[in-house]
Amino acid sequence: MPWYSDFESICRFDVPLSQLTSFRIGGPARFVLGPRSHAELADVIRCCRDNQVNWRVLGRGANVLASDAGFDGAIVRLSGAQFSTIDIDRTADSCRLRAGGGADLGACVRAAVRGGLEGLEGLAGIPATIGGALRMNAGGRFGQIGAAVSRVLVMHPGGRLQWLDRARAAFGYRTSSLGDYLVLAGEFDLLEEEPKVLLDRYRQVWIYKRQHQPVTQRSAGCIFRNPAGNSAGRLVEQAGCKGLRCGGASVSHLHANFIVAEDGCTAADVLALIRTIKQRVLDQAGLQLRTEIEVWDEPTAEADHKRSCA
Ligand code: EPU
Repeated sequence: MPWYSDFESICRFDVPLSQLTSFRIGGPARFVLGPRSHAELADVIRCCRDNQVNWRVLGRGANVLASDAGFDGAIVRLSGAQFSTIDIDRTADSCRLRAGGGADLGACVRAAVRGGLEGLEGLAGIPATIGGALRMNAGGRFGQIGAAVSRVLVMHPGGRLQWLDRARAAFGYRTSSLGDYLVLAGEFDLLEEEPKVLLDRYRQVWIYKRQHQPVTQRSAGCIFRNPAGNSAGRLVEQAGCKGLRCGGASVSHLHANFIVAEDGCTAADVLALIRTIKQRVLDQAGLQLRTEIEVWDEPTAEADHKRSCA
């Protein structure tokens, strides 16, 4: 019997990762599993391990460059009801929003704004699930999710559940300790505020984003981390890379820390462009940029290194 025989009803086969990532790049994932409950998730992970099947969790795929070769293993998506609920709980002296790890961050932000809960509105427009956003400490100039969350429910690799408080999650600039676990849920203790006030802030964040970032194009958000005290976008622009192109990948004219993909764009195109940008910034500013996105299975084929950008 195949290893996935217990999971036939939640398993799909040979699913293009281009359908699961915001770049819309990536070859087929051998298996895509959507466990419906914490127990089923623990079973799936155990089964993958017992059968030496590589596995990865994928949220909205908004910060990932998947390989053109695809992924020879199991992609786990927390899509079932237990992972996607968003609840607001009010008592006389507290307001709490609890969201599953697979819940859409945008839906959480809107629920908080509508419900008059302050603290998430600065995260408007960030494409992510709660799990992915917490793991990466998603955010920007209007706030970071790590500053708003109070507790995170995680599953240890062996299946044990535990609530971690914010300090244990060790949030830093686009980092946390949560990569060691599976993120099942987050709890946010928020303050009350007039929904109208929150809606105004929410709209301002969106207006800013639309003016400064290519939000309607295929991308994975910012490609590089900002070096300490500097801006990757500014450095890339100053190195003359705006509009630079490699195959179907090009540097956004709106914000130079975004690479946008056109039809036919491959991961190899994006990787070649990243290498060229890094070299130009190194040559001109003496700084080594580091990618912020997760690159899955970077190809090392020699041919790939010879690609050129124009
Ligand atoms: N700049 C340029 N040229 C550009 C882009 C930016 O000169 O092409 C300059 C801007 O004028 C500004 C400075 O660089 O003076 C910083 O730019 P911006 O305010 O756009 O912020 P950022 O540091 O580039 C960060 C996050 C974004 C987040 C925005 C807004 C990182 C790497 N990026 O961008 O996060 O949306 O703030 O909150 O930390 C992401 O993580 O995927 C992401 C998009």
